Amino acid sequence: MGTDKKGFSTEAIHGSSLKDQYGALITPIYNSSTFIFDSTAQGAARFALEEPGYIYSRLGTPTTTALEEKLAKLEHGEAGLVTATGMGAVTATIWTVINGGEEIIADKTLYGCTFEFFEHHLSRFGVTVHFIEMANEDELRAALNDKTKIVYLETPANPNLKIIDIEKTAKIAHEFNPEIKVIADNTFASPVLQRPLDLGCDIVLHSCTKYINGHGDLLAGVVVSDAETINKIRLVGIKDMTGAVLAPNEAYLVERGLKTLEVRMQRHCESAMKVARYLETNDKVEKVFYPGLESHEGHEIAKKQMDGFGGMVSFVVKGGRKKAAIVADNVKVATLAVSLGATETLIEHPASMTHSPLSEEELIAANIEPGLIRFSVGLENAEDIIDDLKQAFEKI
Ligand SMILES: Cc1ncc(COP(=O)(O)O)c(C=O)c1O
Repeated sequence: MGTDKKGFSTEAIHGSSLKDQYGALITPIYNSSTFIFDSTAQGAARFALEEPGYIYSRLGTPTTTALEEKLAKLEHGEAGLVTATGMGAVTATIWTVINGGEEIIADKTLYGCTFEFFEHHLSRFGVTVHFIEMANEDELRAALNDKTKIVYLETPANPNLKIIDIEKTAKIAHEFNPEIKVIADNTFASPVLQRPLDLGCDIVLHSCTKYINGHGDLLAGVVVSDAETINKIRLVGIKDMTGAVLAPNEAYLVERGLKTLEVRMQRHCESAMKVARYLETNDKVEKVFYPGLESHEGHEIAKKQMDGFGGMVSFVVKGGRKKAAIVADNVKVATLAVSLGATETLIEHPASMTHSPLSEEELIAANIEPGLIRFSVGLENAEDIIDDLKQAFEKI
């Protein structure tokens, strides 16, 4: 007898209920801004959410539904909502959950634009964000109060791959108040390596621009949670507050990328481990951050909560910003560009690129050193990636 529980790739390939009327193997692209009603009564029933069915593409299309069903299964949630970008997923979620006068507790290390949104923009609407060292239990307990609505974290965090114990964090937050929404940005791990909902989070989100799509050719995002929460985010955060809808063309491409996510992650992890080990032996490197290395502060937690250590490696070049720039400017197989999780290896300098919105003080507080390089290990052959780094380091 078979079982209902299928493997990751099987669900990534077959895990939607969509059946095309003509029997197409692949989910069709339903490029229609609006959907026909049989009668006014039917239109009214759909608007009242009494009858299932499509209304207008800002609320979804069959193409986006197919992708949402798959991503919800892969993140072990009840429902999913795909969005135009990862920032669309972050903002639509936060706008739905938070009210003026309430508070967010977030880890100090976050993707630069999420930090900007929290630190400089939410404050304009009466929301207070406390940035803490989430790994420090005492800091978390001290920051929790009656106004806390959200506890927000990334792990591994962008850009320095800090690891936070998801289970412990969610437990502390929920013991204080079960109504608090614990939200994890799971972009760096992908659902192949880590499923935050299983570890006690209420909401998980991604920039699908990265590993989930995996081919560096589009922007997309997703939020996964219980059905009620997702419905609210769809109707408030997406429909009314951001309009950050994923177009059917993009959803089609993300679904195509998703089918190979598991095999791609295996290769990303294998090669990243080789790159990290090489960097550890390089005397021009001050520090290597890779959760798979025994030397990584979060290694034991990563072993506990992840099924692999991912494709991102960060390292600090001795001599600071100028020396780091020499490495970044001289790679030939790797490409100097922001973003990550693509087939191509990408190298970037967070202090002058992805995290440039942060002031010098904010960079120090977030532990983003001037000589830090963020390296997204692609699917080229690991030996070529390492040889490339070797020749770039020789230019110092
Ligand atoms: C961890 C993380 N979250 C969210 C985002 C935002 O995603 P997007 O660029 O798709 O809006 C990024 C982008 O780099 C990211 O690295």
